[in-house]
Amino acid sequence: MSRRDIDLEPLQSVVTPVADEQERRMEVSLRPGTLHDFVGQHELVRHLEIVLGSARARGQSVDHLLFAGPPGLGKTSLAGIVAVEMGSGLRITSGPVLSRPGDLAALLTDLQDGDVLFIDEIHRLSRAVEEVLYPAMEDRRLDVMIGRGPSARAIRLDLPSFTLVGATTRTGLVAAPLRDRFGFIGQLDLYDVAELTVIVERSAALLDVSIAEDAAATIAGRSRGTPRIANRLLRRVRDFAAVQGHRVVDTEVAVEALDLFGVDEYGLDKIDRRILGLLCGQFANLPVGLTTLAHACGEETATIEDAYEPYLLREGLLIRTPRGRVATERAFEHMGIRPRGGGLV
Ligand SMILES: Nc1ncnc2c1ncn2[C@@H]1O[C@H](COP(=O)(O)OP(=O)(O)O)[C@@H](O)[C@H]1O
Ligand SMILES: [Mg+2]
Repeated sequence: MSRRDIDLEPLQSVVTPVADEQERRMEVSLRPGTLHDFVGQHELVRHLEIVLGSARARGQSVDHLLFAGPPGLGKTSLAGIVAVEMGSGLRITSGPVLSRPGDLAALLTDLQDGDVLFIDEIHRLSRAVEEVLYPAMEDRRLDVMIGRGPSARAIRLDLPSFTLVGATTRTGLVAAPLRDRFGFIGQLDLYDVAELTVIVERSAALLDVSIAEDAAATIAGRSRGTPRIANRLLRRVRDFAAVQGHRVVDTEVAVEALDLFGVDEYGLDKIDRRILGLLCGQFANLPVGLTTLAHACGEETATIEDAYEPYLLREGLLIRTPRGRVATERAFEHMGIRPRGGGLV
């Protein structure tokens, strides 16, 4: 087989990949099923153990939970875990899908006692839908209007006890009255390389891929602190190894594959590099506003803020100043661009 036979799925953006049925199925199959399988986020996991354990002991539903953090860190996985740990049913929906109040009302009245209702991207709920959610969360009550005009009247329905689990990329995006109605808010942070190495090894075992420990660490180091990306890179490395006839993925194979797919030692992808390229090149030493940056990269401002910046900030490649984003000396070094004159961070 030649290099052209390799699944050269464009990795321009490993952060916001093209939704692909195979990728989606893999993601589901690699999802940790219990808190025990969930790697890292130790403080959050400890808190959840207490919250879930106490609800179980009281024989009641868990308080409503909100998970916040960049894409791919495990929010959806946690929603599933909450349902499994509580032995309850799970209903999944998302903010943009619930466009009318009636959509949410239909979902709520269909819940079974103890169910977990997961609303992904909860910050994207419309105000009208949020209004339905408030009494439902607080008093398990649904107020529906019957009819129109002067003859319209409100009827009140009692809902079964349920747990709402919301996910959002930033808590700041969730309207304050909605945020206040959650009993627990869990913030997920980027993972360190050791944690991602464990995740890569676990996924490799599930995918039946033999991988050397240092190769797992290599993949982990290029995964931008994100389990979803670690799993995706593992799959690309596996494809490469299979095509090249390697039975075991060692570091050399992993590095060759990752280089081939354009993932550098920091795990930066095309968009990351475009961001840094702009900040180090065209706009060298000038603070750049978020909107300008997003336009120049052809991405939404929210995507830049939620999916790209957290990692660049953590790695000390970019800083945010009141006047805009600036590349650091480290970024210039990494991009192989010589900074012009002073004013550098
Ligand atoms: N803590 C974790 N331990 C193991 N695997 C994880 C963990 N967090 C995420 N993953 C993996 O990453 C993938 C993406 O996680 P997901 O829960 O969909 O993230 P989010 O909903 O925050 O975007 C999952 O399929 C799972 O395989
Ligand atoms: Mg998700």
